[in-house]
Amino acid sequence: MEVIIKSNYDEICQEAARIILEEWQKKRNLVLGLATGATPLGVYEKIIELHQKGEIDFREVATFSLDEYLGLEEDHPQSFAFYMEENLFKHINIRKDNIFRLEGRPTDIEAHCREYEEKIKKRGGIDVQILGIGRNGHIGFNEPGSSLSSRTRVKTLVEETVKDNARFFKSEEEVPRFCLTMGIGTVMEAKMIILLASGKNKNDAIFKSVEGPVTASIPASVLQHHPRVKILVDEEAGSLLSRRGYYKWVFKNKDRVKDYLK
Ligand code: F6R
Repeated sequence: MEVIIKSNYDEICQEAARIILEEWQKKRNLVLGLATGATPLGVYEKIIELHQKGEIDFREVATFSLDEYLGLEEDHPQSFAFYMEENLFKHINIRKDNIFRLEGRPTDIEAHCREYEEKIKKRGGIDVQILGIGRNGHIGFNEPGSSLSSRTRVKTLVEETVKDNARFFKSEEEVPRFCLTMGIGTVMEAKMIILLASGKNKNDAIFKSVEGPVTASIPASVLQHHPRVKILVDEEAGSLLSRRGYYKWVFKNKDRVKDYLK
């Protein structure tokens, strides 16, 4: 795991956008996995800025959404579809037929989830998956206890997540209890994963995910098994990490390995 600790939220978003730009420069038909919630908003803002400056182009880029609430129409302000349209898609030149998402009202849940997995495979897999993290360590809507090899399926939100997400709805009662989410196994097949966390209320989840044992009770801890994962945290979210000094030193000095080449 590469743990990158930055001073504040703006800097982690800047770094995430920089990595995405770098990956796009290597592969113009980049396949991005996208998350919602408060955390990635700054990353999307930076990406829009890069696009407006002409540094990144989305004509060949495809995106897959990480999750969706069950029961919400795509024009519901809290649906994944609406969030992505408002916060990213309408500001960039992505092609509609390159946007893939889980539906809030599919006709057949199992078939929909299976087809979604097939679509990811058909595109050659996800190149860069963006993730946030729940206070309980969830990734996507894979709540604690989710199978570490789970695939895209229906999940039930735990009380804590319902309460946390109530801030986006008029009341807690309005938060859907069920959702569709990429499975942990699905997420783990992404070639690169960028997980972002900001603020003190994420510090325990980050500590357990990065320095605790791998356990289904902290779904993000499975990322310790991924060969190319970047954990981008601000000082507050990283405040409980015991190897903070080491992570910072590595990030600052990583180019120095070049000095040892022949
Ligand atoms: C959103 C998602 C969730 C969030 C997590 C953190 O698509 O999959 O896992 O990333 O709940 O949410 P915020 O960023 O709002 O704290």
